[in-house]
Amino acid sequence: MPGDGYVCSIDQGTTSTRCIVVDRAGREVSRAQVEHEQVMPRQGWVEHDPVEIWNATQHVVVKALASAGIDASALAALGIANQRETTVVWNPRTGQPWCNAIVWQDLRTDKIAAAIEADGRGEVIRHRTGLPPATYFSAGKMQWILENVDGVRDATQRGEALFGTIETWLLWNLSGGVDGGIHVTDVTNASRTMLMELESLDWDEELLAFFDIPRSILPEIRPSSDRRLYGRGHPAGPLPGVPLAAALGDQQAAMVGQLCLSPGDAKSTYGTGSFLLLNTGDRPVRSHNGLLTTVCYQLGDAPPVYALEGSTAVTGAAVQWLRDQLGIVGDAAEVEQLAASVPDNGGVHFVPAFSGLFAPYWRSDARGAIVGLSRFNTRAHLARATLEAIAFQTRDVADAMVKDSGVALEVLRVDGGVTANDLCMQIQADVLGVPVSRPVFTETTALGAAYAAGLAVGFWGDVSDLHGSWEEGRRWHPEWDPERRATAHARWQKAVARTLDWVDL
Ligand code: G3P
Repeated sequence: MPGDGYVCSIDQGTTSTRCIVVDRAGREVSRAQVEHEQVMPRQGWVEHDPVEIWNATQHVVVKALASAGIDASALAALGIANQRETTVVWNPRTGQPWCNAIVWQDLRTDKIAAAIEADGRGEVIRHRTGLPPATYFSAGKMQWILENVDGVRDATQRGEALFGTIETWLLWNLSGGVDGGIHVTDVTNASRTMLMELESLDWDEELLAFFDIPRSILPEIRPSSDRRLYGRGHPAGPLPGVPLAAALGDQQAAMVGQLCLSPGDAKSTYGTGSFLLLNTGDRPVRSHNGLLTTVCYQLGDAPPVYALEGSTAVTGAAVQWLRDQLGIVGDAAEVEQLAASVPDNGGVHFVPAFSGLFAPYWRSDARGAIVGLSRFNTRAHLARATLEAIAFQTRDVADAMVKDSGVALEVLRVDGGVTANDLCMQIQADVLGVPVSRPVFTETTALGAAYAAGLAVGFWGDVSDLHGSWEEGRRWHPEWDPERRATAHARWQKAVARTLDWVDL
């Protein structure tokens, strides 16, 4: 029988996998984290090894339980938050993936997306799914695998190919894999495929036909937090008997973790990319300014809650690029010192459009650019321009959000790895012109998945039990005057314009 002392959550992100154990007060008891390889076989391609991710998941679960001094029998439930859109296709008879997972940042499906946009199907997709046709989402990745990986198309007819985003793959493995693993997804992850109709919350036959995807390979769509449970941990796995009770895309999980549970609440999570979400309540709001309409969460049998989202592909990843590809900083923390050593960007703007540009531009043909260089500039200016790029990209989506919703942003709640960079958060407040607020506990993604799992099994009675757990840690107030803000933003937009039309599609 499951215990009632703790809940556990897995945050399977783009660069690492974390597990945290949370007690009834909503406090972290222990955590474990491990990074995984970014496989980049060609320009524009980004892959993950699904088996490495499953092994990492088992490893962090075992480690987090050990450091909490408990075993799985003390857990009331498990929740999963995951990198969204990343696509896995595997053989349920052998448990082996047919190929590496195609990651959300991967650009190989640019021609599929462009063809769909060109012949009018794009409008149908926008209307039914709230998403513009783009390389970002899962359907094109599935189509690519069906067309390009030997044997997969035939395997679908023999029941030897299943599709899933990462939570589906992990839930299948946790619940037994080849020995009866469950094949489910949740509404938030399904809302990122370009295949789910936003109001019926079901796979849409016409959209499946656009991508030539057989319905039989898709998982069953369930609420994000499910009282009926998705299943239980397999006796031979790392979580024997534990109720598998919740799954959400990581950005939606962060909304729950930040307690952005009322219409008008917004947060920005800064990870590999940045994702600004605004809770719009129980009706999907269509964007006219380049934002996505997405499912925010569905807790149990309650109606789904929707969000507007501005997704930026490269923010924290730009800092990693300074470290790993350019080698101008030794670790991510050093970028703050370096950027703080100069008073401004020295005229340099860096637009890290490595995966094209996401919201609000949606330009797959964009590529990164550093503009405004003179001999005066040093790596410190580039470091500062990198932090500014994080802030300006968030400003662009925040502006679009205000236009779509008609609601002015009063404060921005932030979380994620980059928020440890105080200078970046100050720049964010300067660039936005509104205060930025960071909670004490910044692992809100994992926390949100834990909350969703605990709510499913009655570990917490309802969301009002969680309200005491959010506490502000630090607030940054804008310091730039309006003229400096406007000039800097205009120069940023000029730099963005330089990145467009760079590759032919
Ligand atoms: O949509 C992609 C997003 O879910 C990835 O988030 O935190 O893994 O970079 P993260």
